[in-house]
Amino acid sequence: MFKMENQFYVLTFLAVYSFGLSTGNEGPIPIVLWHGMGDNCCNSGSMGAIKGMLEDNIAGVYVKSIMIGNNPIEDTENSLFLNANTQVEMACDMISKDPKLSQGYNGIGFSQGGQFLRALAQRCPSPPMINLISVGGQHQGVYGLPHCYYPNHKWCDYIRKILNFGAYFKWVQNSLVQAEYWHDPINEDSYKKGSIFLADINNEDVVNKTYIQQLTKLENFVMVKFNNDTMVEPRESEWFEFYAPGQGKNITPLRESKIYTQDRLGLRQMDKAGKLHFLALDGEHLQFEEEWWVQNSLVQAEYWHDPINEDSYKKGSIFLADINNEDVVNKTYIQQLTKLENFVMVKFNNDTMVEPRESEWFEFYAPGQGKNITPLRESKIYTQDRLGLRQMDKAGKLHFLALDGEHLQFEEEWFIENIVKRFLL
Ligand SMILES: *[C@@H]1O[C@H](CO)[C@@H](O)[C@H](O)[C@H]1NC(C)=O
Ligand SMILES: *[C@@H]1O[C@H](CO)[C@@H](O)[C@H](O)[C@H]1NC(C)=O
Ligand SMILES: *[C@@H]1O[C@H](CO)[C@@H](O)[C@H](O)[C@H]1NC(C)=O
Ligand SMILES: *[C@@H]1O[C@H](CO)[C@@H](O)[C@H](O)[C@H]1NC(C)=O
Repeated sequence: MFKMENQFYVLTFLAVYSFGLSTGNEGPIPIVLWHGMGDNCCNSGSMGAIKGMLEDNIAGVYVKSIMIGNNPIEDTENSLFLNANTQVEMACDMISKDPKLSQGYNGIGFSQGGQFLRALAQRCPSPPMINLISVGGQHQGVYGLPHCYYPNHKWCDYIRKILNFGAYFKWVQNSLVQAEYWHDPINEDSYKKGSIFLADINNEDVVNKTYIQQLTKLENFVMVKFNNDTMVEPRESEWFEFYAPGQGKNITPLRESKIYTQDRLGLRQMDKAGKLHFLALDGEHLQFEEEWWVQNSLVQAEYWHDPINEDSYKKGSIFLADINNEDVVNKTYIQQLTKLENFVMVKFNNDTMVEPRESEWFEFYAPGQGKNITPLRESKIYTQDRLGLRQMDKAGKLHFLALDGEHLQFEEEWFIENIVKRFLL
């Protein structure tokens, strides 16, 4: 949820701005919204509220809130894990098929949605984007995950570790959206070569003239920065600024940075033409993100398992409790699962990301507390054979492998020896 006073400020600002921008006799220009990481198209505390506010304030306006996937839950998941390039392609496809947008639209992007919409402006010429408003977007990327409010902070540390260690590895680039706009100022070169999204749309390594042509067609490019943003590092990225190369402390002002002085992206032209607008407001990053991150629509919530309240988990978990036959036994699940020839579970002995790591072997805390683990063979799901696991075990179909290391840390060799050769050949 927004904090009240900031909600008022952001919403008023957007309404006024969109009013100012909506011209012509044929009604207001339609608006396309793109949400931030971990959010979705339709969350009533964020995009839903903004869509409603715009509709209330701009009579007759058509507002489309981008949803990547088939439903809001998939949309949230995709905002974390689906390649940004694919997301931009999907959005382009979606808006080009919407007849209500055929004459053009104004784009309003929130947080990473800001840079995604800019990519859309640069890569997707039709229908045209007329004005781009980026609210807390990270146009020079991020170098840090300062606050990560996911309930298990280890999760955040894990993502940070991966990003520090290998943000530009292909598999990381392809599977973690944040890596695609990870900008390491100490290693500008690896960023330029390795970043499959941000370095491309910023014309870092090669200049794509189409990007310049497209971007400079915008009538206005508005960048909103949150003065007290502790989520985005550095917050100056919201105004297209970044650390001077080689260090992580001093910021180069946009007008002194290479992207501007060499006009690699058209920003200088746009600035001279009065098209760039830098707005700042006091406050934390979008305000809704941190609590929202914890409370709403997060995919992880669907397999959140609270051992202290087993009952609320059984009734409340729309995914895990169902597939684990917790509340009711679905015989189809047993029939289907036991048809598998093998069910191999790999556990990481030093996993600090999954709590408890024994869940990787289908084990969990004994009910009522969060410390002692019940071995699978002593747990109800097994002793009552609610899911067919006992049958499978007796038939030698369950395989428990363990290896030392952090979550998903394994050597290729280990994988080939233990998985490929044993089960896949
Ligand atoms: C430039 O960008 C356009 C639009 O995404 C793309 O079609 C084209 O292949 C790019 N050109 C180069 C040289 O990368
Ligand atoms: C927010 O940032 C502005 C500008 O740097 C500063 O003047 C203000 O005191 C800050 N507010 C808070 C609550 O930290
Ligand atoms: C059991 O699962 C199957 C497959 O998802 C589903 O079609 C069926 O409706 C479920 N039955 C019950 C009783 O929930
Ligand atoms: C990882 O876990 C295993 C098994 O608990 C333990 O023997 C090993 O010392 C741990 N390694 C590290 C680096 O913590």
